[in-house]
Amino acid sequence: MTVKPVLWLPRKVSDATIARAHENYEVILNEADTPGTADEIIAMSAQTDAMMPCHSEHFSAHVVGQLDGRLKILANHSVGVDHCDLDALRGRGIVVTNTPDVLSDATAELAMLLMLGAARHAVAADRLVRTGGWDSWSPAFMVGKQLTGARLGIVGMGRVGCAFAAKARGFGMDVHYYNRKRVSPEKEQGATYHETVESLLAQADFLSLHCPATPETQNLMNTERFCLLPDGAVLVNTARGALVDEDALLDAITSGKLAAAGLDCFKVEPGGNAAFAAHDNIFMLPHIGSATTRTRDAMGFRALDNLDAFFAGGNPKDAL
Ligand code: DGY
Repeated sequence: MTVKPVLWLPRKVSDATIARAHENYEVILNEADTPGTADEIIAMSAQTDAMMPCHSEHFSAHVVGQLDGRLKILANHSVGVDHCDLDALRGRGIVVTNTPDVLSDATAELAMLLMLGAARHAVAADRLVRTGGWDSWSPAFMVGKQLTGARLGIVGMGRVGCAFAAKARGFGMDVHYYNRKRVSPEKEQGATYHETVESLLAQADFLSLHCPATPETQNLMNTERFCLLPDGAVLVNTARGALVDEDALLDAITSGKLAAAGLDCFKVEPGGNAAFAAHDNIFMLPHIGSATTRTRDAMGFRALDNLDAFFAGGNPKDAL
């Protein structure tokens, strides 16, 4: 009888993922579904050959330095890997994979929800109806910003950025983008390329962030850059909270430089930024960009595909 590798699932991934995981692995599931702490991660590394962490489990250099030699692979259940110190993990010979592609549409759909909700007063409007406060109507009531014909600036024309651009084109938006490298005409689909973020910002009636969080993109949107946007612009962030200086965002909202913002990501997660709650024109969601049934299954299966390839002696498709 072959011995199955031991796999730790620190979070409650989809039922279909858990069922499939049992086929090839001895599964240890954290039924409590609480984020794995540093101590738990270190302790579990002595009992497991593999882990399937989410962005809620942090593999800092300090944690990685204390991992047991038994742990061979982290098959992340996320496309973002900013919770992993990749150099430290490489240094320990631990393989790291992620789940690209499969969450692009779900995340782009949520970015569209945030963009529309921010542009059309979703927070205040919903509350008005919900609380029974809707007692009048006027042509001057809840007037928002229209997407049709507006210029959309996308920072990061990777998989999610391209998926979002496709959806925005369906709304008749004029798509502009900044990316470290210009993408192919097939991916561009007529979008206007900007060689600098600054040049993009000047054209962005709506701005949506789709780049990874790295030391270079930390506080990408700061006071100086908010100033470059057209007056009354709308910011959307479904990527990572680290990309936005939240004090600068509050200033831009308070001054009216930004008409609105739609945010799925915050510097502090879970929790968000309490100061944002005073502003109805900040439409907020709790990091649920990829949270659809289909996409959760696809993420789990992609992580399992990577594990299966690794334990079969091959190279996982999404090895970083
Ligand atoms: C990702 O995959 O990076 C999403 O943010 C969910 O973790």
